[in-house]
Amino acid sequence: MAFTADGPALVEGPLELVTADGRTILCDRCVVALCLCHRSAIYPLCDTSHRRHRRTVE
Ligand code: FES
Repeated sequence: MAFTADGPALVEGPLELVTADGRTILCDRCVVALCLCHRSAIYPLCDTSHRRHRRTVE
């Protein structure tokens, strides 16, 4: 598993995710990006929404 600074956790696939509400999501990719920022429209999978919300440090 790999974590990026402001982005997703990259995990080896394929895998089967079971969400807190009991949904099962089948991911057939060799690398699956899991959303850590909770901004994704397809949460728990990353849709790259984290890229549009980066904070700038002054
Ligand atoms: S980590 Fe990419 S949308 Fe949340």
